[in-house]
Amino acid sequence: MANNDDQFKKVISHAKEYGYVFQSSEIYDGLSAVYDYAQNGAELKKNIRDYWWKAMVQMHDNIVGIDTAIFMHPTTWKASGHVDAFSDPLIDNKDSKKRYRADVLVEDYCAKIETKIDKEVKKAAKRFGDTFNKDEFIATNGRVLGYQEKIDGILQRLGKSLEAEDLADVKALIEELEIADPLSGSRNWTDVKQFNLMFGTKLGASAETAMDLYLRPETAQGIFVNFLNVQKTGRMKIPFGIAQTGKAFRNEIVARQFIFRMREFEQMEMQFFIKPGTQGKWFEYWKETRMKWHLSLGMGPDNYRFHDHEKLAHYADAATDIEFKFPFGFKELEGIHSRTDFDLKAHENASGKKLQYFDHEENASYTPYVLETSIGLDRMFLAIFSNALEEETLENNTTRTVLKLPAVLAPVKAAVFPLVKKDGLPEVAKQIIEDLKWDFNVFYDEKDAVGKRYRRQDANGTPFCITVDHETLENNTVTIRHRDTMEQSRVKIEDLRDIIKKEVDVKNWLMKMK
Ligand code: GAP
Repeated sequence: MANNDDQFKKVISHAKEYGYVFQSSEIYDGLSAVYDYAQNGAELKKNIRDYWWKAMVQMHDNIVGIDTAIFMHPTTWKASGHVDAFSDPLIDNKDSKKRYRADVLVEDYCAKIETKIDKEVKKAAKRFGDTFNKDEFIATNGRVLGYQEKIDGILQRLGKSLEAEDLADVKALIEELEIADPLSGSRNWTDVKQFNLMFGTKLGASAETAMDLYLRPETAQGIFVNFLNVQKTGRMKIPFGIAQTGKAFRNEIVARQFIFRMREFEQMEMQFFIKPGTQGKWFEYWKETRMKWHLSLGMGPDNYRFHDHEKLAHYADAATDIEFKFPFGFKELEGIHSRTDFDLKAHENASGKKLQYFDHEENASYTPYVLETSIGLDRMFLAIFSNALEEETLENNTTRTVLKLPAVLAPVKAAVFPLVKKDGLPEVAKQIIEDLKWDFNVFYDEKDAVGKRYRRQDANGTPFCITVDHETLENNTVTIRHRDTMEQSRVKIEDLRDIIKKEVDVKNWLMKMK
């Protein structure tokens, strides 16, 4: 079996080879941490976005969607705290000249200790067999407890130092733990410094009058500044949500791992406006609801876990991440944040405009609290794509590469083939395409032997292949082949639409959230 690095390399090359993701401006040797979505990638990305939008906006009668501009008045970012506090602690290695996020170096160190815990658990599971109780083992085994205590101690200290802006202590921690540059092995570090992640730009025709702007680092602020507009025009009653999807930009220090950490990326965010004091209840509600959304895609509960934040962002009173098991380990996929009234109050103060809600039941005005769900669309793409890519060994000992994308998200739902390029079979296959394309994205292919065409579609993630053969001319039936099982059955042409719909219909997938 391929190790995780090899698997990740395969994911990246498969994404390119099958028209999912290209390096941006590749002919000029690319641009670091910026990517383009190709013909299949754009479809997959759109399907993920739609799946999110349907679950969040269409299925909630108290959530509406908006689409705000990337450029915002610069005071927005002063008020939101991004000008002063949206930075990462960076550290340079004097020998390798490489730059790292200081907190990530410490977290990676802890992840290595976590691997030791996993090893202990695996060893014990083997030893005790069916009688093994994982939770009890973790709670009682001396060695595991020792490792966990070490991790907790380190992360607590890191959290406290960052909270207190004590960057000297972050450096001291790195030195005490003897953390070395992962590339060169050197421990020759500079001091830790803060680095603001926002990209600046200018608005205006002449240099003298141009206004300094930022490219938005999150979509959320477009929602906050429109809170009252939407509430009034939509006559929304608390609790209610405003959702949007769109581009965000961050000058990431450590921009690697393909589309996991990009400088230009897309977010899908929802701000849920609630009565102050109810944030605990809604935090739990959105944790559960968002996890159900992830699980509805069938990628398995073992691939997800919650990670509560030790260090809270400047706006939050509680926060958790939904982490996903990427090829390089468990990492943040989505954030759920209890943002209190921080943002609305900050914009009220900076703009001098009231951003309050009049509660008719209470007969009083107040500034709502906000529960936020925020997921990176590109990260979700990577989670789905990397989880789907499999190298299967078949019964005859050959291998096939198959991209087991959830059918609801697959770029192409069905490929239609004439068995041979003659005898009127292409005409029938093209007619099937004409009929199906009203409902689904479909693809016609007549090149190469049919077995080869199946394999191409397997690697492309297409859930169904439909083959027109000579029997079709006699009785209007075709074979339909299922990507994951490779099973084939003979069905009537007139039933194709319903067969495909059952498997790819958003409703059937979202119903799994119930
Ligand atoms: N409005 C809250 C907010 O922006 P965040 O945790 O900074 O919170 C939310 O970002 C999500 O956006 C993350 O969970 C991640 O999925 C995605 N994200 C953040 N930075 C990213 C980057 N550089 N590249 C790709 N996705 C990113």
